Amino acid sequence: MNDVPAPTLTRETMEPYWLPFTANRKFKADPRLFVAAEGMYYTTADGRRILDGMAGLWCVNAGHGQRKIVDAIKAQAERMDYVSSFGMSHPLAFEHARQIAAIAPGDLDHVFFANSGSEAVDTSLKIARAYHRARGDAGRTRLIGRAKGYHGMGFGGLSVAGMARHRKDFGPLLPDVDHLSHTHHPEKNAFSRGRPAWGAHLADELEDLCQIHDPSTIAAVIVEPVTGSGGVLPPPVGYLERLRRICDRHGILLIFDEVITGFGRLGTAFGAELLGVQPDIVTCAKGMTNAAVPMGGVLVSRKVWDGFQQGPESAIELFHGYTYSGHPLACAAGLATLEVHRDLDLYARTRREAQVFEDAAHALRDQPFVVDIRNIGLLCAIELAPRADDAGARGLAVNRHCFDAGVLIRNAADTLVMSPPLIIGDGEIARIFDTIRDALARLS
Ligand SMILES: Cc1ncc(COP(=O)(O)O)c(C=O)c1O
Repeated sequence: MNDVPAPTLTRETMEPYWLPFTANRKFKADPRLFVAAEGMYYTTADGRRILDGMAGLWCVNAGHGQRKIVDAIKAQAERMDYVSSFGMSHPLAFEHARQIAAIAPGDLDHVFFANSGSEAVDTSLKIARAYHRARGDAGRTRLIGRAKGYHGMGFGGLSVAGMARHRKDFGPLLPDVDHLSHTHHPEKNAFSRGRPAWGAHLADELEDLCQIHDPSTIAAVIVEPVTGSGGVLPPPVGYLERLRRICDRHGILLIFDEVITGFGRLGTAFGAELLGVQPDIVTCAKGMTNAAVPMGGVLVSRKVWDGFQQGPESAIELFHGYTYSGHPLACAAGLATLEVHRDLDLYARTRREAQVFEDAAHALRDQPFVVDIRNIGLLCAIELAPRADDAGARGLAVNRHCFDAGVLIRNAADTLVMSPPLIIGDGEIARIFDTIRDALARLS
């Protein structure tokens, strides 16, 4: 990895690229540039090795540069670059769907391919509405999300998500949407390990929404089984079970957005398995291809699939799809990813390492400004008290310190977030949390 080409970027040559979710002018004045990645590490343009504490963006679950994945993508690019999936396909797409269905919990046995988490989410919302309509229940159009939820950047996902700043600039979103409250209650649950004990009753708000809107108008409830971008919030014990029961009582579909929790992050193939609650629909992306080729997916239960099989055999069941649905390179990457997961016994390994990760995280509970630590699987958040005069400054300062010390983490305002590749070892876990400890000691 020493033969990395020196970048020739200047302020001018960087100008045309509009980076997402980035202060572009500030970034271009002092860019953070990465040029290579292998295993647990990135290499920056100035030749520094950076321990990846975020698996890229919660997505490179099997670590960077996995040989089997790289080779599979290369081979498929040589064999066939592209074929449409509208009325035609290629063998790897079927095999990929089959292997995903085989590891999915319960009867989530059909897979619709998209190209990102955002597309997967919008697809899932459309499937939910179309399912009811196909069964003659077209009045069910309302969608219920949750505060602090993140479901990508499409208008559908944005509508059911619960982050005010993400919605603010974009005018009216989908009508007929409502939200449950979030489950972030450090005053009750601070420093819980795994699922917090308090808060199952918060799910009963769904019953309240049913009384307000009439349950026969509600198509689906969508939640992340563990809130991710909203600050790593494992569900309170019993919460998802209650949501499931209320959905069943009223004929509402339950969608789990597993874009982060899918493909091993919690130590099981999907979060639903660890959490013991069976959704009707699951969205996934990110770890699905180890992020080597963009891909998203929607898994549907037998009940949902059967709901679409009412018309004649010659009828298209769902008027929806993308040019790149089931893209050959993505399927090749996805199949190789699953093979790597099996080779490494990655989910069992994750369950073991999650224990070390939890202990290392909670060892910081008495450090300056720490008000909560939350974790589940290889996901963790450390929440800091905000500075009275400058909310977010402490989170940013820790992030900067860590980066300068060679460790990549994220901060959402004053909440530090860690979601490393699942191949992480004890030494790397120690390094991440030791570096955060040093950063906290320097905070004012
Ligand atoms: C839970 C969840 N859903 C959807 C998305 C959107 O995925 P993408 O950025 O691939 O569109 C994300 C991205 O972080 C996510 O965390």
